[in-house]
Amino acid sequence: LLIRDGAILYAGERSGCPEAAQEVIDGKGGICMPGLCNAHAHAAMTLLRGVGSDLQLQEWLQQIWPAEDRLNGEHVYNGTMLAAMEMISRGITSFADQYFFMDDTARAVVDSGMRANLSRGIVSTGGNDEQKLQEGVRLFEDWNGAADGRIKVYLAPHAEYTTTPDLIHRATRAAARLNTGIHIHISETPREVEECRQRYGISPVRYFEREGMFEVPVIGAHCVAVDDEDIAILARRQVKVVHNPASNMKLASGVAPVTRMMAAGIDVALGTDGVASNNTTDLFADMKLAAILQKGFLMDPTAMPVEKVLHMATRAGALAMGFENVGVLEAGMRADLLILDKDAPNLTPSTDVLANLVYAAQGLNVRLTMVDGKVLYKNGEYLTLDKEKVLFEAQKSAHALGL
Ligand code: NI
Repeated sequence: LLIRDGAILYAGERSGCPEAAQEVIDGKGGICMPGLCNAHAHAAMTLLRGVGSDLQLQEWLQQIWPAEDRLNGEHVYNGTMLAAMEMISRGITSFADQYFFMDDTARAVVDSGMRANLSRGIVSTGGNDEQKLQEGVRLFEDWNGAADGRIKVYLAPHAEYTTTPDLIHRATRAAARLNTGIHIHISETPREVEECRQRYGISPVRYFEREGMFEVPVIGAHCVAVDDEDIAILARRQVKVVHNPASNMKLASGVAPVTRMMAAGIDVALGTDGVASNNTTDLFADMKLAAILQKGFLMDPTAMPVEKVLHMATRAGALAMGFENVGVLEAGMRADLLILDKDAPNLTPSTDVLANLVYAAQGLNVRLTMVDGKVLYKNGEYLTLDKEKVLFEAQKSAHALGL
């Protein structure tokens, strides 16, 4: 790869490289692949790692919410820096984040050097959803395209059950006016779908279609409890579905029909969701889970081939987040990549490299991570972050939340 100004100029055999480089990164003994794209996350929830691990969803939320009520911008910055450190060290180069105090998240993206799609989460409770929506619009005005284009901003009504039809209309109109998209949770659990049917007589997917939300680009997190008609709508509207297998299993939400969605033409991406419902941010773990979950659930070992899983975790994620020029290592794309240690015991022998990447690799096998042509992590060293400081501040913020 020949890289200049953050872009890949040439990809291929060294003998065909059009010019000599000023600086050479030796990838010997390594596997170079596109950086992983984490298409649904709540990065600052790293601070809540381990909270309420084995509880029912409602009891779990009752542990999460009081801690979140104490959050301020400094906590969110510290939690996002911790998340960035964890992601960078595991080869994740971009993430989609829906949370609060997003100016502080954006600062952490700038400081860490990562790429991100950011959105201010909006719930309608409390009667001030217009103010939250305007915060989301202001976030767009202040940050969309910032950090040399590494930051994109979407709007984010949280989910059907936490918002009103009126908010969905206003958010969709605002997104259309700004020429941007919406990041939202859709049909995460059967209960959510049942309650939506009681309210509106239809499923969340049909409801969002009816209310016009799919007129703009949508990142739809989860889509676990969807039927064939829902899937047809999601496919027709080109909704960017994000599968979060670890979170869905840990919260016992159910198994998303990923193979059926793919067969319908949906370009399903992969996400970790927040650390409170996954406990780690390692997309290699989520790749393996995404594959074996479909196979085991469908009792069909051909249900999810490795090529599809790798596509989910790279190119599909980049497209879901609106980063058209990310997720493939070829000329003209931005240089977001990772190098994995091919000689690690768990990757030897490398008879089938792709199978190794999905089934045997761990995030900790990553030895170099690059975003936009800049090396952020190399051989255990962070080049944009002060490791001791990030760990100390994150621990301090967790204490301040009463954890
Ligand atoms: Ni989520």
